[in-house]
Amino acid sequence: MSDPKALGRVRELLDPALADLAIRASPGLGYLDLLGGEPAERPPVQWLMHSGLLPKFYERIWRPAMIGTLKGPFGPSTAQEMALVRRMLELGPHDLVLDVACGPGNVTRTLARSVDEDGLVVGIDASATMLDRAARDTTAENVGYVRGDAAELPFLSGRFDAACCLAALYLFAQPIQALAEMTRTLKPGGRIAVMTTRRMPLAGPLNELVTATSGVRLFGDEEITDALTRLGFSGLRHRAYGLMQFVSGRLT
Ligand SMILES: C[S@@+](CC[C@H](N)C(=O)[O-])C[C@H]1O[C@@H](n2cnc3c(N)ncnc32)[C@H](O)[C@@H]1O
Repeated sequence: MSDPKALGRVRELLDPALADLAIRASPGLGYLDLLGGEPAERPPVQWLMHSGLLPKFYERIWRPAMIGTLKGPFGPSTAQEMALVRRMLELGPHDLVLDVACGPGNVTRTLARSVDEDGLVVGIDASATMLDRAARDTTAENVGYVRGDAAELPFLSGRFDAACCLAALYLFAQPIQALAEMTRTLKPGGRIAVMTTRRMPLAGPLNELVTATSGVRLFGDEEITDALTRLGFSGLRHRAYGLMQFVSGRLT
């Protein structure tokens, strides 16, 4: 169960108008809930993310199989990917870190090992079932979870030292708005790391077919770097592995 003290610290990062609402709506949940009910409609892949089943085997089976396949035979293993993301985020021991679309908290908990008890890693996700799992699997005192929408982050501006969004941007209805929101919550000099899908080279309409049938968006190789440049990031680095891309930068 995530630590009540950590949830208290998360609450201080929230827009005050939402903080009390979150506490009232969340007794015993292990995370702060700012969404309440479930959305009426969602694409198939999002339905899976909100199911009770996927969180049970996401971290051990689904993620290594799906993301591993998409990263291709020369892509980093999950452990190498986490090391890469930690380097991209240049984490210091006291950093406040935001993990957007944290799912069952797999990345959140890994990042928490890079910050000490003065630091904090906050995971936010829209799925109650994912967050139930995240809260249940987390014992670290420097981790807290919030249920909210990536396109409308409930946090005060300029609070976080680093923010990441792994294996999720392609599910969002408003991915660029979510990047803008991550940017808003960062301090000047804050770092960002994103891992998302790539359009299949030479596959033209097949890319659109994948999106139309699954709801998974595929991004061009310059789409995320261009968006981050427009949002004020510099020192951008782009790495492509199979059908996945990693992008990092620093807010200037
Ligand atoms: C595949 S999981 C990624 C988990 C983790 N970041 C990782 O790298 O393994 C994708 C997550 O995105 C979340 N998600 C999708 N749309 C979202 C939105 N608009 N706001 C917040 N979370 C969202 C889903 O609920 C799901 O838990």
